[in-house]
Amino acid sequence: MPIPFLINVFHEGLPAWFPDPWLVAKCTTAAGALVLTKWYSSGRSNTAERKLYGRVVLMTGGTSGIGAATAFELAARGAQLILLTRHAQTDPFLVEYIDDLRARTGNNLIYAEQVDLSSLHSIRQFATRWIDNAPPRRLDLIVLCAATLTPPGGARTTTAEGIETTWMVNYLANFHLLGILSPAIRAQPFDRDLRILVPTCSSYIASPTLDTEDLHGDQAWTPSRAYARSKLALMVFAKAYQKHLDAYKRPDQLPMNARVVLVDPGLARTPGMRRWLTRGSLFGLLVYMVLYALAWLLLKDPTMAAQSLLYATMDGNLLRGAGGKLVKECMEVDCARKDVDDEAVAKKLWESSDKLIERAEKEAALKRAIAKKAQEKRDEDASRAAQQAAQVEEIEALLGAVKKGRAAKDAKEGQKKNGKKTKSAGDSNPPPRNASQIHPVFFTDKLRRPPFAVASAPHSNPIAQGYVYQDAPRGSEKSAGSRL
Ligand SMILES: NC(=O)c1ccc[n+]([C@@H]2O[C@H](COP(=O)([O-])OP(=O)(O)OC[C@H]3O[C@@H](n4cnc5c(N)ncnc54)[C@H](OP(=O)(O)O)[C@@H]3O)[C@@H](O)[C@H]2O)c1
Repeated sequence: MPIPFLINVFHEGLPAWFPDPWLVAKCTTAAGALVLTKWYSSGRSNTAERKLYGRVVLMTGGTSGIGAATAFELAARGAQLILLTRHAQTDPFLVEYIDDLRARTGNNLIYAEQVDLSSLHSIRQFATRWIDNAPPRRLDLIVLCAATLTPPGGARTTTAEGIETTWMVNYLANFHLLGILSPAIRAQPFDRDLRILVPTCSSYIASPTLDTEDLHGDQAWTPSRAYARSKLALMVFAKAYQKHLDAYKRPDQLPMNARVVLVDPGLARTPGMRRWLTRGSLFGLLVYMVLYALAWLLLKDPTMAAQSLLYATMDGNLLRGAGGKLVKECMEVDCARKDVDDEAVAKKLWESSDKLIERAEKEAALKRAIAKKAQEKRDEDASRAAQQAAQVEEIEALLGAVKKGRAAKDAKEGQKKNGKKTKSAGDSNPPPRNASQIHPVFFTDKLRRPPFAVASAPHSNPIAQGYVYQDAPRGSEKSAGSRL
C-alpha cells in the first residue's frame, strides 16, 4: 500500500486531500521532540534483577513518592520490609497503606515502626530497641529515602529539640540512626551483601561549603540552601561511614561486606516535589494542575525515579571494589564536588554532629524530666483535690441526713402535740416518690413508702398475676384502693 502510493506521488505529485507537507514535517518534528524529551527525562530503567525473598529491608520514607515506589518494587520481589514512619501504627492511613501494599504485592511481610526523624529521642528509642536484640537481627538493606524540603519563601523552622528541621530530617537523623545501628550492621555475617542506600540530589553541587561554623546556615538560610547543604552533608557522611565500616576489624578477621551506595534518583513528580513547585499553596496547586503536561514531560514518575535505587539494590558489580559509589541513571558516576571525599571536612562534620546530638539530647532529656515531674505533681494535686472533694461531699451528705432526721422528729412531736393523726408535715409538702435516693444513709424514708399496688384486671398482665409489684402514688388512696 505505501509503495504504490509513493510511486503515485512520484509520478503525479501529492493528491489533493494530502495536507501541506510543511505542516506535516513541522508536526512530525514537534511530536518527535516531545517523545525524545519524555524518553530522556524518564531516565534509564534498571536491568539488574534478583529475587529478594528472605532479605530484611529497613526503610525510611517508604510511604510517599520515590520511597513508596521503591517499597512496592522491593516487596514485589519478596523482601521483608520494615517501614520507619512518623505515623502511629494505629493510624488509619498507615494501616490502609500497608494493607494495600500487601494485597498488591502478595507479600505479607510488610511492617511499620514509628520513628519520627525530626526527633533524636524517637530515633534513639527505635535504634536501641533494634540493637538490643540478641542474636543480632538480620539486615540486608537500609534505604534512607525520607527527606523534607521547605517550599520557596517558607520560614526556617526548628524541631522540638531545637535543631533546624531540614538539617535534622535530611542529614542528622540518618547520622544518628546509622550511628546507633552500627553494631548491628557490623555484626552481620561476612558474606551478607548488606547495602545502605543514601538518596541524594544534584542540588548538592550548588551547596555552600560545610567548612564553616555556621552549619545550620542561621545567617543565610533559604529553603534551597538548607536542602542543598543537608544533601551535601549526607554525602560527606555517607562516604565517611563507609570508611568507618571498612576500618572495623571483625573478630573472625574476615572483610567487612557492608556497602554504602549514594543514589541520585533524578527529578520526579512526587508529593515532596509537588509541594516545592506549588510553594505549598492552593494557587500554586491550581497552576500546577494547569501546567501538569509540562511536569509530566520534564519530570520522572516515581517508579522511574526508583530505578536507580533498584539498580543499587540488585546490581552485582557494586559489590566489587570499594563502597561509597554514586549511582545515577542506573550507572556509576563521579561526584561533582571534591569536598565530598575530603576527610578533614568529614571529620569536622562528624565531630560537630556528635556534639550537637549530645547537647540536644541532654537538653531534651532535662526538659522531659522536668515535664514528667510537673505532670506527676499535677496528677498528685488532682488526686488530692478529688479525695478532698469526696470527703466534703460525704460530710455534707451526713449533715443533710442529720438535719432531715431532726426535722422529721420535730414534725412527729408537733403532730403528737396537736393530736392530729392523718396530717403530717410531709402531707403539706409531699416528699418525692423515692426519698431513699436522696438520703441513702437513712432507711426511714424507705420504710415509710406506701404499700405496693397490684393491677385490678387479674389476667390482663403480669402485674395482675401478683408477680410484679408497683408503687402506688403517694397520697392517692383512691386509685390504690380501686386496684386492691
Ligand atoms: N523528588 C525528587 O525530584 C527528588 C530529586 C532528587 C532526590 N530526591 C530524594 O529522594 C528521596 C525521596 O524523595 P521524594 O520526593 O519521594 O520525597 P517525598 O515524596 O517528599 O516523601 C518524603 C518521605 O519522607 C518522610 N518523612 C518526612 N519527614 C519525616 C519525619 N520527620 N519522620 C519520618 N518520615 C518523614 C515522609 O513521610 P510521610 O509520608 O509521613 O510524609 C515521606 O515518606 C529524598 O531523599 C529526596 O531528597 C528526590
